Amino acid sequence: MNHWKLLSGLLGIIILISGCSKEKTSPAETSQAASESATSKDAEMNTGNEFQLAIQSEPYGTTTDGQEITQYLLSNEKGMSVNIINYGAIVTALYLPDRTGKSENITLGFNSLAEYEKKGPYFGAICGRYANRIAEGKFSLDGKEYQLAQNIPPSHLHGGEKGFDKKVWAAESFSEKNEVGVRLSYVSPDGEEGYPGKLTLRVVYSLNNDNELKIDYTATSDQATPINVTNHCYWNLAGTGNILDHELVLNCDRYLPVSDIAIPTGELAAVKETPMDFTSAHKIGERIAQVEGGYDHCWVINSAENQPAFCARVKDPQSGRIMEISTTEPGVQFYTGNFLDGTEASGGYDKHGGFCLETQHFPNSPNQPEFPNTILKPGKVYQQTTIHKFSVE
Ligand code: GLA
Repeated sequence: MNHWKLLSGLLGIIILISGCSKEKTSPAETSQAASESATSKDAEMNTGNEFQLAIQSEPYGTTTDGQEITQYLLSNEKGMSVNIINYGAIVTALYLPDRTGKSENITLGFNSLAEYEKKGPYFGAICGRYANRIAEGKFSLDGKEYQLAQNIPPSHLHGGEKGFDKKVWAAESFSEKNEVGVRLSYVSPDGEEGYPGKLTLRVVYSLNNDNELKIDYTATSDQATPINVTNHCYWNLAGTGNILDHELVLNCDRYLPVSDIAIPTGELAAVKETPMDFTSAHKIGERIAQVEGGYDHCWVINSAENQPAFCARVKDPQSGRIMEISTTEPGVQFYTGNFLDGTEASGGYDKHGGFCLETQHFPNSPNQPEFPNTILKPGKVYQQTTIHKFSVE
């Protein structure tokens, strides 16, 4: 991230205006380039502020099979900005000022489309059709057995060999008085990755001047199918180093204990007096050594009857940056980047270089009928919302 800041200081504006950037674009650059460029048909600017609520787009790259990918640059009056591409519906960067006003990218990502196309840690992506694990990649529905890819043998993970994170999505930007955003949609054909039914999914990312990044998910299917869609951003509110000093609160009295291959046992266990207890603020690193392999578990959110319920609050004491999450989902997978290893495949990020809070249904629900339902039936609409609100203290 530091290398990008340095580079961007020298090159960013010129690259953005020329429209050939594959690198991340920061809010200051976005704002300045927006006011200088008359070419972006998406730009809609307010006046009288250094930063403005605006959306722009720029070419991001071409996939190996020749499809052109666009990057959308959402920015607001507070100097926050979010970059999203229509490959994998990936959040490639999110810039947020710290308590001194210094802006940094606080989400992990690669620098090129080519890297996103390779097998990776799902940086910033929308995962599905079923995010997280399905035991042995198998489930039965209406008396029929389905076999999915066992892409982390023997389990199915994040939709299989080529999940939604590796698809090209249709996209259109929008700009309203109080928010800007991008609507992404993807039609997953019947039988894709072994799943039944043609699924039509829409994901809408929007940003407002309250520093809220909202993700709305809507889906329908022509056959009954399991569905569990999430965003897989890795966060590092410091913009550098590891996340062990970040302070976390989870609005969760229970979590799901798992087997040695991370399949829930079925128990909803109390977090009280365990290292899983984040009902009051704890540093992520405080008890992580007591959890084999690091945190990679699903917590049960204390619910608010289908309204977005408060899920999590994370604070980086150094920068003062805070992220609060609320969601309609019943669970959240808290993952501490345990498999990041500093290699190219990890984008150069080291272990614990970022954490994920993936709001979702419980892993392996299609095989654990006592868990909240994940089967979408024809004629019904799947609808979920997750809001990330950012601030500084
Ligand atoms: C999820 C899983 C982790 C890991 C990451 C991707 O968060 O729970 O076990 O697979 O995705 O590396």
